[in-house]
Amino acid sequence: MSHVRSLFFGGSLEEIGQRTLRAFQEGRPSEIIWNITNRCNLTCRHCYVDADYSKAPNELSPAEALELVDQIAEAGVPLLFVTGGEPMTRPDFWDILARAQHHGIRVVVSTNSLYIDDEAADRLVQLDVDYLATSLYGPEAFHDAYVGAKGAYRRTVENIARLKKRGIKVGIKTVVTASTYPHFFNLVQTTKDLGCGLLYACDLVEVGRAANQRETRVSGDQLREIADFILADVLKDPDRGIEYDIGALPSIAVYIMKKLKERGIDVTKGVARMKVKSACPVGKGLMGINAEGNILPCSFVQDFSVGNVRELGIRGGVQKLFELGRSPIDGACGECEAVELCRGCRVKAYHASGNILGSDPICLMRN
Ligand SMILES: C[S@@+](CC[C@H](N)C(=O)[O-])C[C@H]1O[C@@H](n2cnc3c(N)ncnc32)[C@H](O)[C@@H]1O
Ligand code: SF4
Ligand code: SF4
Repeated sequence: MSHVRSLFFGGSLEEIGQRTLRAFQEGRPSEIIWNITNRCNLTCRHCYVDADYSKAPNELSPAEALELVDQIAEAGVPLLFVTGGEPMTRPDFWDILARAQHHGIRVVVSTNSLYIDDEAADRLVQLDVDYLATSLYGPEAFHDAYVGAKGAYRRTVENIARLKKRGIKVGIKTVVTASTYPHFFNLVQTTKDLGCGLLYACDLVEVGRAANQRETRVSGDQLREIADFILADVLKDPDRGIEYDIGALPSIAVYIMKKLKERGIDVTKGVARMKVKSACPVGKGLMGINAEGNILPCSFVQDFSVGNVRELGIRGGVQKLFELGRSPIDGACGECEAVELCRGCRVKAYHASGNILGSDPICLMRN
């Protein structure tokens, strides 16, 4: 999770960026990403959760889910992402949002948006959800084939308009793979044309249904092409314009920092921030919680848990996660001069070697 614009310049995410940073410095989780269910109405081929029509066997009950929201409030977490699976398939989805509203927790709903109709959009407004992130992978025919649902693109675009009409901000999420890569550059334009303020592009994490999909990875040169394209766009007007959030590729922050320095642009702000909260947020404030209540360093490692919220609670979990954030990194990342700022993608290291403190195999500076 690297917010390219606000890391080095200004932009719309500055304020929440400051709040999350402060939370981490004060020993609280900075953001929680909660997969409230593994159930989904789609079965995308790349899905890291391996979501399908069935729910996880030990899914948190409605009462446990509400109690967890209470705990999140009590722990002073500034930002909660409600995701899945498809979060809107959970029958108590609205109860969870209502409890978060009761506590004044800022919630971002991460959804494929296919269940959003006028009534749902109105309810989101009533529940103070002012930010929603929805997935798009390319142009209409490509997107429909990618998610395996005809009409999905059209409905998503209609639903974005529905939300925006009501004042809800919308971010677009996508994944970078060999098949989505050719569409990435047009997707930036689509994001702008739809009036969305953020494009979250996540490099493919080879886990869940994406395990053993190495052939669908893009090359280092293609990732650098994306980075150069983003940098050129940001530099057109550094403090305004859409935000780019790059997932599972922390070395992009180091790469962009180097490019900015070469142009004589001041990078002090970004360096100061990354010294506190590295570009990979594992152990630096991020907490994942899966559908069964397991506490994870990141949602992309569903099988690496430091304990369960049922026994450990949020406060116990965060201490264990912060220990990870203080641990030295091994291998090539450990020897890198930028390790303190970047720390490499801990989940890619884990999936590649079984060692969460190992070296990130996908580095824009090395490969
Ligand atoms: C798991 S989905 C949950 C929310 C909702 N069902 C949706 O698809 O928008 C959240 C995001 O994770 C992305 N994602 C899924 N599997 C991934 C993987 N293996 N690597 C990187 N991103 C992935 C999806 O493309 C989606 O944008
Ligand atoms: S990526 Fe989202 S929409 Fe696709 S299967 Fe996974 S949870 Fe469902
Ligand atoms: S070697 Fe590791 S720590 Fe250094 S820039 Fe690359 S991914 Fe980041």
